[in-house]
Amino acid sequence: MDVYDAITRRKTVYSFLDKEVNEEVVLKLIDSAIKSPTAGGIREYEFIIVTNPDKKKEISRVSLTPHIDSAPFIVIVICDKSKMDAVFDEEDSETFCVENAALAIENLLLMASSYGLGSAWIATLQQEELRKLLAIPEKYKVRGIIPIGYIKEEGEIRNSGPKVDISRIVHIEKFNNNAN
Ligand SMILES: Cc1cc2nc3c(=O)[nH]c(=O)nc-3n(C[C@H](O)[C@H](O)[C@H](O)COP(=O)(O)O)c2cc1C
Repeated sequence: MDVYDAITRRKTVYSFLDKEVNEEVVLKLIDSAIKSPTAGGIREYEFIIVTNPDKKKEISRVSLTPHIDSAPFIVIVICDKSKMDAVFDEEDSETFCVENAALAIENLLLMASSYGLGSAWIATLQQEELRKLLAIPEKYKVRGIIPIGYIKEEGEIRNSGPKVDISRIVHIEKFNNNAN
């Protein structure tokens, strides 16, 4: 599948088939995530892969997102901001942490899509509960909960695809050059 197809096919899904994802594929997804560009060349994020059914249930609870425990695995993306703080000022450090994680997560979602897998990026979560549940050290912040698996029903895809009229958001040469 080419990149555009993977991008076009990707949709947020919350329910998954009870079907394992090959370990090699899981590793390929992580490998893709860490190939994203990083501010200052600093890769301050790490991943926790969860397959344990009880833990997945708990993650589903603390993410306030039912059913994601149906995913064969959930990737938790965590960031150690102190690595950025050592190089950048406070404001840049915070921004770059978010941006680095976002790029890694997007690579993960797109690579998953290219394998015919569905995924979601869940960012509203209960940090402290998740930290306790997965024994995440204090210095890390959870940036995303990413359930990944084979899509249960195409009908479950919340098709929010591009409804944007591109001509309204693209400006040529200067801002509003394209306004009516
Ligand atoms: C930064 C970010 C945070 C998100 N957080 C949540 C979340 O907490 N819960 C959730 O259900 N979806 C979350 N999403 C998924 C969006 O709701 C979803 O991408 C959006 O509705 C567009 O749908 P699509 O992904 O199918 O195109 C998040 C997406 C992004 C990029």
